[in-house]
Amino acid sequence: MDFLNQIDLSRRGFIKGTIGGGAALALSSQLALAEQVLTGRKPTIETIKGSGVDPGLVRMSLNENPLGPSPMAIKAVADHLFEMGRYGSQSRDVTQALADFDGITLPKPERGSQQSFFRSAPGPILITASSSQALGLLTLAYLSRNGGEVIEAEFGYGQISRSGQFYKEIFGVDVNAIMAPMTPGYKHDLDGMAAAITDKTTMVVITNPNNPTGTLLSTEEIEAFVKKVPENVIVVVDEAYIHFAEQDIIPSAIPLTTKYDNIAVVRTFSKVYAMPAMKLGYCVSSQKIQTEMLKYFTGGSSMLTNVAGAAAVRDLDHVQRSRQVVWDFKARCYAEFEKMGWDYVPSQGTFIMVNIGRESAPVVSEMRKRKVWISRRRQDEFKNWIRVSAGTEQETEVFLDTLKQVMSGMS
Ligand SMILES: Cc1ncc(COP(=O)(O)O)c(C=O)c1O
Repeated sequence: MDFLNQIDLSRRGFIKGTIGGGAALALSSQLALAEQVLTGRKPTIETIKGSGVDPGLVRMSLNENPLGPSPMAIKAVADHLFEMGRYGSQSRDVTQALADFDGITLPKPERGSQQSFFRSAPGPILITASSSQALGLLTLAYLSRNGGEVIEAEFGYGQISRSGQFYKEIFGVDVNAIMAPMTPGYKHDLDGMAAAITDKTTMVVITNPNNPTGTLLSTEEIEAFVKKVPENVIVVVDEAYIHFAEQDIIPSAIPLTTKYDNIAVVRTFSKVYAMPAMKLGYCVSSQKIQTEMLKYFTGGSSMLTNVAGAAAVRDLDHVQRSRQVVWDFKARCYAEFEKMGWDYVPSQGTFIMVNIGRESAPVVSEMRKRKVWISRRRQDEFKNWIRVSAGTEQETEVFLDTLKQVMSGMS
């Protein structure tokens, strides 16, 4: 039997096996979506929403966008699918889309010049494979060689502090993570963070809005802080959730990157653009910071990821729809939490921390048995709290009903 025949047979076997098995239902909607994109019809929100999880599962634990990605992003991938046999990254196009969206001026590309072997688009935007990669590059650049001190909020996202600790263990460098106390409303205490800076400090991390507390700092507050920070200390602002701030203008720190050499703003495509599995992010910073990051950069996102990203950024309707779904989810939950008399932290992110008044671990595991996934964060300090991520209107109702049923069954 020749090789091509073998492939053909195994493919037929796969399709028969899958359709004949229990996955037939889930697959039929995926096939309908594939048919739409391959026949040139535009996929719709309704066909995309809910893809990627088992039917009936309400997954409100991972801060995913419940609407899924923009139909334009899916179409862009389909349009470029057959080009995977060629070299090419399309990173200039996604860079341009971001520059237009974020109001960033890009330098004219110089013919033939390449800043780094691995990247093609010059300017303040460095496209990375996820924002985790951008945060990792910053950590490598500023903490892995000579060690130093990183300051991060005590209930912050914590990736940089954790990787700093990791370098300490594997490279033996002297890295110290200072977890700065937050205000009573779980906001960053910027005065406290500024006061914690010593001559060993190399980096301060601000997650804005913060994960998991959802609190937001204004651009003015961040600028006042940056002014107090010595120029050799890098201020990293992680804006994974910034598009969800309930304001007309996104309160970003990106404009500060042209005024101050020591600030780096990190963004992800995993939240508002709903592309976590594609792994796409970016960092906007001065040339000085970018040069340090590029020393560790060995390549980032793929062509298909970049074309999807560019289409997602340009689909402003989908961005606005995604914001609205999250805002509706929060308003609905706040109303119910208030009826129950539960404390919650008003959030500018895609999730809410709420104190359900009893130990949350058994509640979360009972909810999981009923196919509703929510999460717990920082259990030592938040024993009675859950973190719930945005769902569609229907998912939010299922979450609220299930939570009430589980709680009443336990009382
Ligand atoms: C605050 C924050 N930063 C970064 C990330 C990582 O995002 P990415 O999927 O781009 O690695 C997350 C993911 O949840 C996050 O919550």
